[in-house]
Amino acid sequence: MKASEIRNTFLKYFESKGHTIVGSSPVVPGDDPTLLFTNAGMNQFKDVFLGFDKRPYSRATTSQKCIRAGGKHNDLDNVGYTARHHTFFEMLGNFSFGDYFKHDAIQYAWELLTKEFKLPAEKLWVTVYSEDDEAYEIWNKVVGVPAERIVRIGDNKGGRYMSDNFWMMGDTGPCGPCTEIFYDHGPDVAGGPPGSPNEDGDRYIEIWNNVFMQFNRTEDGVMHKLPKPSVDTGMGLERITAVLQHVHSNYEIDLFVKLLAAAKNAVDFASGVKPGEAGCDADSPSLKVIADHIRACSFTVADGVIPGNAGRGFVLRRIARRAIRHGYKLGARAPFFHTLVHPLAVEMGEAYPELKQGANRIFEVLKQEEERFFQTIARGMEILEDALNTGAQQIDGETAFKLHDTYGFPVDLTADVCRERGVTVDQAGFEVAMNRQREQARAAGKFKMAAGLEYSGVATAFHGYEHLVCETSKVVAVYVDGSPVAEAQAGDDAVIVLDHTPFYAESGGQAGDAGELRNASTKVEVSDTFKIQADVFGHHGHIAEGSVKVGDVFTAKVNVEQRAKTVRNHSATHLMHKALREVLGGHVQQKGSLVNADRTRFDFAHTAPMTAAQIAQVEALVNAEVLANAQAQAQVMALDDAQKSGAMMLFGEKYGETVRVLSIGSSKELCGGTHVKATGDIGLFKIVAESGVAAGIRRVEAVTGDNALAYLQNLEATVNDVAGALKAAPAEVAQRIGSLQDQVRALEKEVAALKGKLASAQGDELVNQAVDVNGLKVLAATLQGADAATLRTTMDQLKNKLKTAAIVLAAVDGAKVQIAAGVTADALGKVKAGELVNFVAQQVGGKGGGKPDMAMAGGTDASKLPEALASVRGWVAERV
Ligand code: ALA
Repeated sequence: MKASEIRNTFLKYFESKGHTIVGSSPVVPGDDPTLLFTNAGMNQFKDVFLGFDKRPYSRATTSQKCIRAGGKHNDLDNVGYTARHHTFFEMLGNFSFGDYFKHDAIQYAWELLTKEFKLPAEKLWVTVYSEDDEAYEIWNKVVGVPAERIVRIGDNKGGRYMSDNFWMMGDTGPCGPCTEIFYDHGPDVAGGPPGSPNEDGDRYIEIWNNVFMQFNRTEDGVMHKLPKPSVDTGMGLERITAVLQHVHSNYEIDLFVKLLAAAKNAVDFASGVKPGEAGCDADSPSLKVIADHIRACSFTVADGVIPGNAGRGFVLRRIARRAIRHGYKLGARAPFFHTLVHPLAVEMGEAYPELKQGANRIFEVLKQEEERFFQTIARGMEILEDALNTGAQQIDGETAFKLHDTYGFPVDLTADVCRERGVTVDQAGFEVAMNRQREQARAAGKFKMAAGLEYSGVATAFHGYEHLVCETSKVVAVYVDGSPVAEAQAGDDAVIVLDHTPFYAESGGQAGDAGELRNASTKVEVSDTFKIQADVFGHHGHIAEGSVKVGDVFTAKVNVEQRAKTVRNHSATHLMHKALREVLGGHVQQKGSLVNADRTRFDFAHTAPMTAAQIAQVEALVNAEVLANAQAQAQVMALDDAQKSGAMMLFGEKYGETVRVLSIGSSKELCGGTHVKATGDIGLFKIVAESGVAAGIRRVEAVTGDNALAYLQNLEATVNDVAGALKAAPAEVAQRIGSLQDQVRALEKEVAALKGKLASAQGDELVNQAVDVNGLKVLAATLQGADAATLRTTMDQLKNKLKTAAIVLAAVDGAKVQIAAGVTADALGKVKAGELVNFVAQQVGGKGGGKPDMAMAGGTDASKLPEALASVRGWVAERV
C-alpha cells in the first residue's frame, strides 16, 4: 500500500464511523502563543477540547502536518540517527469531542490495524497508564490482547503525571492518560519491549497513541477536569507506512525513495561529481537528514515563515543550516538544498497543494538562506575542525560563540558536528559569551554618544604616518557612558584620550584605526578611533584586563593588517579619482568617499552611468600606476603653494593655512589620510560596483590587494559553476546560454502553436453545444488552457461556423478568469458583446467591456464561473 493510500484508508475508515474529515491546519498555529509549531493533530481542536469552541461535528479525523523541532516535543537532534524520527511528519488522527471514549477508541484502533491494515495481532503490543485499569481491562477482556503484551507505565519522567503514558500538548493545555500501540519488527532488530531497559531500540516501535483527554493543565500546574472526556489520537503516517510496506526504516517508504534519490543527485552535482562517478554513499544518514529537513523547511516556508534570528524563523534557519552542513559533509561545495523544493512538490503536492502553489517562492527563500550560509560555512568548518583536532573532549564556549556570531553556525549545529566525534560543547560558556555580546550591543548604543564628550586638556600628537606603535602613550582622559571617570575597570567600554598616538582617527572619509593598548597589568582592545575635537583623539576600547586611569602609560599598537588594507584602499582612491577625470572628463568632482579595510566607495559628479568600457579603462589606468610602483610622498606646505603646485582640492572645502599634499603616481591631492609607501603595495585594483546615488552623482566601489583577489576568485568559482551546470568550458558559457535561449524561444513558439490547435479543436466540439434561442445560437463555454489570443481566434472561428450567434468563451488560470464575448453582425441589433461580457464578468468579481461585436473582461473568482456561464442563455433569451 502506498503512503497516499494508507492516508486515505485511515480517513475513510473513520468517516465510515461517523467522523468528519477535516483538512490539516497550517504548521504555524494561528493564534496560539504557547506553541512554536503545530506538533499534533489535536492542536487545531484545542479550544474544542477545552469547551471554548464548538464545531458542527463531535467526531473528526485528520491527516495533520506536524513539526517537532523546538518546544516541548523536539525531535531535531534524533533525525538521521534513528529510523523513525522526523522534524516534519504527518499525523493521522481521530478525535471525539465529548462523544465516544475509551471503549470505542480502543476498538476502532484495533479494528483498523488488524482488519483494514491486516496487521497480525501477535505483532502488536500496548501500553497503558499504570493507574488506568479501565483501559487495561478493555485491551485484555474486550479486545483479547494477552496480559504479557500489555505493559503498564507509571510516572517515569520524574514527577506527577510525567509519563510516557500521560500526554500533554505543552506545559499548559488539554492532557490526559494515553494508551500506545507498538509494532514488533521482530528479533532481527535490536531493542526491548516498552518499559524495558532496551526500549529505545528500533525493534518495538510506537505506531499509535490514543489519548484520553480529561484535564486542562494551567500555568500553575493545576489539572482542571475537562467539561467532557474526549479522545485524541495520533499515528505517524511514515511509521505505519514503514510497517505496512515491510521496511524497517521510515526512510525506506515510498514517500522518501524519490526524495532521497533527488537529495543524492543534488549533493553530487554540488560536489562536482562527473557523470559515471559513484558520488556520495546512497545510504548515508546525512541524505536522510537532508530529505527530512527539506520537508520541514518547505512546509514552514509555505506557511509563511522566513529564516531569521528569533522564534520560528530561527528554528527554520537551524533546520536549513543543519541540512546544508550534512550536504557539505558529503562533499557539496555549492548550494544544493533549495533545489529539492520542486522534487518535494511533485511528491507531496497532491495531498498538500500549498506546496505546489508556493514552490517557486519557497525555492527562492531557501536559496537565499543557503547562499548566505555558503559564504561562511567553509571557514566555519575549518575553525571547528581545528578545535576538534586538538583532541579536547569539549569545545569551549568562545569558539562555539565565534562560530555562531561570525560564521552563522547555530550552537546546536556545532553540537551536532561535535557529537559525531564524541565531543561536547560548553553550553554554559557559550551562554556567557552570548550575554556579553548582548551587553556590548546595548552599550554600543551609548557608545556613539561619546562623540560629544567634553574635553579641555592637551591635544593629541599623531605619529601614525610614520609609526604604528607608540611606547609611551599617556592617558589624559577616560570616559565611560559619556562621562569622565577617574578610572575605568576591566569589562568597561571606555573612550580613552592619549597625549601621543599612532592611531588614525576617522576623518576625510578614512575609517579610524583599531588595535590595542597594553601595559604590564592592562589590556584594552581598541575597536575604533575618532576625533573628539580637531586634534583630540578618542580611542573606543573594551578593557579586557586591568584598569585604565588618567596618567597611565601604554604601548599603543595599531592593528597592522587592518591598517594596511585601509591604506591600500585609500591610495587607490586617489589614483582612481585621477583616472576617472581622465576617462570621463575634468567635470568629475569628488562628492563623498568612504575608505575602510574592506573597500573604497567614491561618489562623484557625473550624469551618465559608466559603460563597461569606461570602467575597464579606469581599472587599466589605475593598475598601470600600481605596476609602475611609484613612491608616495607627503609634503606639508602653505595653502598658496599647494594651489600653485596644481594639487587637487575639493571645491567648497575649508583648508587651514598649511596643508598636506599627497603625491602618488600621477595624482596630487590635498589629504590628511594615511597611504601606501609605493603604488605597488596596492597589489591589484578592481571596481566591483557602479551605481547612481542621486541626480548627477555616481558611485563607484572598488577593492584592492587580497580583497580584490578574493573577489576575482569568487567570480571565477561562479563562472565555473555555471560552466559545470551547462557542461561547457567557461569560455563557451555565453554561447551556450545563447543557444539555450534560442531553444526556449523555439519551444515557446511551438507551445503557442499547439495551444492554438488545441483550442480550435475544442472550438469544433463546442459548435455542437450551442443552443438555439429564438433563431440565435447561444454558446457559453470554458476553453481549457487558452490565453487571451486563443480566446479571440476561437471566437472568430465559432462566429463563422455558427453564423447567427452570441458567444461567451472563458479561460481559467488559478482563481483568475478571462472572458471573451462575441456577437455576429446580424444579431447586433439585439445583443451587445460589451454588455454581455460585463454581465458575466460581474458574477466572477470583475468587469470589462469593448465593442458591440467583440469584448474582453477579467475576473478574480473562478469558482463562480460555471454558474455565470449558465446564466448567459437566460440573459440572451430576454433580449431576442
Ligand atoms: N496528541 C497525541 C500525540 O501527539 C495523540 O501523541
